[in-house]
Amino acid sequence: MARRKKIYEGKAKILYEGPEPGTIVQYFKDDATAFNAQKKDVIEGKGVLNNRLSEFFMTGLNTIGVPTHFIKRLNMREQLVRACEIVPLEVIVRNIAAGSMAKRLGLEEGMPLPRPIVEYCYKDDKLGDPLVTEEHIAAFGWASQQDMDDILSLSLRVNDYLSGLMYGVGIKLVDFKIEIGRVYDGDYQRLILADEISPDSMRLWDMETGQKLDKDVFRRDLGSLTDAYTEVAQRLGVMPKQATHAVKPKLIN
Ligand code: CDP
Repeated sequence: MARRKKIYEGKAKILYEGPEPGTIVQYFKDDATAFNAQKKDVIEGKGVLNNRLSEFFMTGLNTIGVPTHFIKRLNMREQLVRACEIVPLEVIVRNIAAGSMAKRLGLEEGMPLPRPIVEYCYKDDKLGDPLVTEEHIAAFGWASQQDMDDILSLSLRVNDYLSGLMYGVGIKLVDFKIEIGRVYDGDYQRLILADEISPDSMRLWDMETGQKLDKDVFRRDLGSLTDAYTEVAQRLGVMPKQATHAVKPKLIN
């Protein structure tokens, strides 16, 4: 079999040329990084979990009419996605103060925000993805005003969808990051949700205990990251709670 052409290798994923023009194969690695890759490790099983979880979230969003790059899952670690031009922004939506925002504004972690807050960071690892305003985005031409209107409404729809989904399984969606892609249909361009949606790019807290079920487990050395992601996947019904083979046979007298 001919070797696939690698297009890009990032911190947690590899992108390969897809089988047809305009498609890409997205491979989920087990590598975990934090603090702009200053902390690194290989977490066995993380890639498989994120592939499944991202498929689950993207499929649900597609169903409710939020356009995404997701086409189909190919195997345990790979999914087929639509090729797009990535808008160089990390869009962060926050419901509860945590992480960099809590630090920046001197807020107590866990404080519910008066309303969801959307922030934009310029995607540049060398600069540590700095926070930017719509003024920077417009002045440097990273996105148009129309794009920004679309990005804001798309982000808030994703927030409502994910918050509801998590609420249903006893988890608070504290914040998350998404990336947006640009696709062209002839002369017409539109924006779609790209990259991944997984506990790598969200903060998830158990509603009862406050237990962290996201990448903070890795960032702050709070235990097993795979266990945390498996818990999320099981609650959402993405992975079975019990493997059938684990059921003991009954003794017949
Ligand atoms: O995670 P950190 O405190 O550095 O940054 P944050 O601005 O508080 O992150 C807000 C949310 O976006 C968290 O759920 C992060 O996991 C996610 N994020 C991400 O996935 N990738 C980044 N480069 C930055 C933030």
